[in-house]
Amino acid sequence: MTEVADFVRENRERFRAELFEFLEIPSISTDSEHGADVDRCAGWLASRLEEVGLEGVEVEETDGNPVVVADHRVAAEAPTVLVYGHYDVQPPDPVDEWVSPAFEPSVRDGRVYARGATDDKGQVYMHVKALEARLREEAGLPVNVKLVLEGEEEVGSPNLEPFLRENRERLDCDAVVISDTGMFARDVPSVTVGLRGMVYQEITFRGPSSDLHSGLYGGTVVNPANALAETLAQLKDDDRRITIPGFYEDVREMTDEERETVETLPFDEEDYRQEVGVRQLGGEAGRSTLERAWFRPTLDVNGLVSGYTGEGAKTVLPSRATAKLSMRLVPDQDPARVQENFQWYVRALAPDEVDVDLQGHHGARPWAADPEGPVFRAASEALEEAFGREPVFVRNGGSIPIVPLFEELFEAPVLLLGFGLPGANLHAPNEWFDLEMYELGIETVARLYDHVAEREA
Ligand code: BES
Ligand code: MN
Ligand code: MN
Repeated sequence: MTEVADFVRENRERFRAELFEFLEIPSISTDSEHGADVDRCAGWLASRLEEVGLEGVEVEETDGNPVVVADHRVAAEAPTVLVYGHYDVQPPDPVDEWVSPAFEPSVRDGRVYARGATDDKGQVYMHVKALEARLREEAGLPVNVKLVLEGEEEVGSPNLEPFLRENRERLDCDAVVISDTGMFARDVPSVTVGLRGMVYQEITFRGPSSDLHSGLYGGTVVNPANALAETLAQLKDDDRRITIPGFYEDVREMTDEERETVETLPFDEEDYRQEVGVRQLGGEAGRSTLERAWFRPTLDVNGLVSGYTGEGAKTVLPSRATAKLSMRLVPDQDPARVQENFQWYVRALAPDEVDVDLQGHHGARPWAADPEGPVFRAASEALEEAFGREPVFVRNGGSIPIVPLFEELFEAPVLLLGFGLPGANLHAPNEWFDLEMYELGIETVARLYDHVAEREA
């Protein structure tokens, strides 16, 4: 299989050029103005899948953005691997902070800079090129492969669930492989065995029917901005624990075994502090940084808007104040229950003088794998061959909403095999993907198929 590595090297320029074409399409799912770009991106991807020799390539319409599917069947008795990924991306904002434009891929220091480079176009395209590497060989593939590539992951995958349910038999599989996560460090190949879930809420407090002069009326009406700040402040206590009643009831504590595994990881707190650019790290009292990021739930304001925010001073009492807020959840928290408790609690905390509007956005269930079984062993072997180093099993604080459903619907293990590096600026300005990881990712995926075939046999 050094052949694959050779093939990747020989085709380096073309593999990059194709990825850059993919990255040039602004398939932003959060912005309805980019609907045509999203469709164009789906069509582009389908053409590439046809070119590498996959069958059954379809751009399937949904009530939202299309799902691209394809497959390659070798034998009914062979195991079937389903590959999932997303071709939609986050908006590029703030655009002024990009060194090179978000949709004009630019190579610097062995990295390609572009929106979606790591999340998730670069990693989706690794799979396409791994299939090309396999299918051009006489030997071909030792397993059946199916692909499901969606265009709505960044908005919570609202139409993928019905799509998967309707196509359950057609997509039936023995394992699901997803490359939409990262590695613990550059030299530390990683399998991600846990993700956090999410509840996203928008809170609006309304006071006076219009903005008011803060001198004429100040002190006679409750200011919704002050009231919102007071309410938000009460959502955490002095230990930075979330005060919503019952919030921690379903939180599974880290096991001793998990604690040991985490402690053996080559984690450098000082590097991490510098990466995030703070003077001092902080969070829930009595927990380590990795425990806080992987095993503990959060409550964070994502956006806060009220009153006058322009230049200089304008004396005004705002008529309303809005906060957008996310809670990251861990096993076994239930998003529906957390949302219900949150809403009840915010209404209870809000002063009588303001009207409260609460709106829920997309959510996700938390997930933890049972990392035993043939697929995890196959992944370890493939990573070790490609990287020359045994992988570590890690968790991640991010969310991929559809993961738990895959496991349930197909009764199949989900393997998160990610190649993003720390600091890759996902969802931020200057997102990048390391081009060496792109090639090692292709090689790993191409090798994985042999190990899955062997292990499943
Ligand atoms: N691929 C990311 C999640 C991720 C990144 C997990 C790195 C682990 C490591 C995914 O595209 C994402 O951004 N998910 C969103 C959730 C979604 C509902 C908007 C998230 O985690 O905020
Ligand atoms: Mn992603
Ligand atoms: Mn994302």
